[in-house]
Amino acid sequence: MDTILHLFLLSLPIAAPKGSHSLWVLATYIKGQTPFPEFSYVVMLDDVRVLYYNSETKTLIPRGNTTTEDDVFNSNVHLTISDNIQSSFKEKWVVATNNVNKTYSVLALQRLVVCELRDDGEPGQMITRDAARGSTTDELLYVDKNFTYQGNLNISTQVLNLHLKISMWNHEHLYRPFCIKTLKGYLEKRRNQVNRKVKPKVRLFRKELSSGFRVSCLATGFYPRHINLTLFRDGQPVSDHEIIGGDLLPNGDGTYQMRKSLEISADKHKYTCSATHLSLDNKLDVTLEYDHGEPFKSVIPSVLMVLALMLVFGVAAAITSWKRQCADSIKSGYSTASASEESVDTT
Ligand SMILES: *[C@@H]1O[C@H](CO)[C@@H](O)[C@H](O)[C@H]1NC(C)=O
Ligand SMILES: *[C@@H]1O[C@H](CO)[C@@H](O)[C@H](O)[C@H]1NC(C)=O
Ligand SMILES: *[C@@H]1O[C@H](CO)[C@@H](O)[C@H](O)[C@H]1NC(C)=O
Ligand SMILES: *[C@@H]1O[C@H](CO)[C@@H](O)[C@H](O)[C@H]1NC(C)=O
Ligand SMILES: *[C@@H]1O[C@H](CO)[C@@H](O)[C@H](O)[C@H]1NC(C)=O
Repeated sequence: MDTILHLFLLSLPIAAPKGSHSLWVLATYIKGQTPFPEFSYVVMLDDVRVLYYNSETKTLIPRGNTTTEDDVFNSNVHLTISDNIQSSFKEKWVVATNNVNKTYSVLALQRLVVCELRDDGEPGQMITRDAARGSTTDELLYVDKNFTYQGNLNISTQVLNLHLKISMWNHEHLYRPFCIKTLKGYLEKRRNQVNRKVKPKVRLFRKELSSGFRVSCLATGFYPRHINLTLFRDGQPVSDHEIIGGDLLPNGDGTYQMRKSLEISADKHKYTCSATHLSLDNKLDVTLEYDHGEPFKSVIPSVLMVLALMLVFGVAAAITSWKRQCADSIKSGYSTASASEESVDTT
C-alpha cells in the first residue's frame, strides 16, 4: 500500500503557497492476488495522515489524535462519497482492462482528490486526478467555477460532455463543499501540528572515495517540507547537473530531510551549503574549508615534522657553535670534542 501511494505522491507538486492548506484523498482500487483491500484510501491534511478507510472492514481509522476528531465530518456523507468513488473505479476497471491482456495479474487504479484553502481563507482549486499502473490517465481541474478536463477517456464527445456536466455539478454541490468543510474541521484540530516550524540541522561533510571525494550537504529534521538547499563552490552555485540527490525524504517523526552531493577530484575549492526555510529568519550557511578536509590534514604532519627537525638541528648547531666558541676561548682541544658529544644528546 505504502509503495503504491508513494509512487503517486511523487508526482504531486511540491510547492504550495505559504499559508494555504489542502486536504488530500488518495484512493486505490486494486484487483488481483494482493494482500490489499479492493478499495481503500488515505486522507491527509497537508502532509499529515488523518484517516484511513478500508472497504473490506468498512471502517474509518483515524490517525493520531483520535477521540477529539469524531465531529470533523458527517460520516453518512463520507460513506456516500466513498461509494461514489468505488463505483466509478469499478466502471473504470472494466474499461481499463478491456483492451489489455487479461493475464495481467494485478491492476491498480488510483485517484487523487485535492482541495485547497487559500491563505485568505477562501476555497481554492480542486483537482481530481486518475491513474492506472502509476501513470496519470485523466485529470479534472476545478477553479472558480471553471472546469477543465484533460484525459484520454475513449468515449464520444457527447458522452464526455454529459460526464463532465454531472461531474461539475457534483464538484460544485457535493465534493468541494464537503472537502472544504472537512479541511476546515481538521485544520481546527490540527492547527498546531501543520503550522509548526522546526528548524533544519545542516551538516556539510567530505568523504573520501576511491577516485576523489564526495561533498555532501544534509539538511534534516525540518518542517514544513519546503526548503531551498544550495551548494556553492567558491561562492558560485554548483550547477544542477553536477548535483546528486536532492530528493525530499520523510523522517519517521513527521519531519523531512534532503541531501545534495557532489563528486569531485581532490581540488582546492571552498564549498558552502546554504539553506533557506520558513523556520529561519536568515539563510543558514555551512562552509567546508579546504584546510578542514582530508588532503590538508595529511600534509600538516609532514610539514610540522620538517619544521621541528629544522628547529632542533638549528638549536643544536647554535649550541655547538656557542660551546665551540667557549672551548676556543679556553683553548682546549678536548672540551671541543665533549661539547660536540653533548649536542648530539640534545637532539
Ligand atoms: C489531542 O487533542 C487534545 C485536545 O485537543 C490535545 O490537548 C492533545 O495535545 C492532542 N494530542 C496530540 C498527540 O496531538
Ligand atoms: C498475455 O501475457 C502473457 C504473459 O506476458 C503471454 O504469455 C500471453 O501470450 C499474452 N496473451 C496475449 C493474448 O497477448
Ligand atoms: C478556464 O480555464 C482555461 C484553462 O486554464 C482558460 O483557458 C480559460 O480562460 C478559463 N476560463 C475562465 C472563464 O476563466
Ligand atoms: C475506442 O473504443 C472503440 C469502440 O468503443 C474501439 O474500437 C477503439 O479501439 C478504442 N480505442 C482505443 C485507443 O482504445
Ligand atoms: C526558495 O526559493 C524561491 C525562489 O528564490 C522562493 O520563492 C521560495 O520562497 C524559497 N523557499 C524557501 C522555503 O525559502
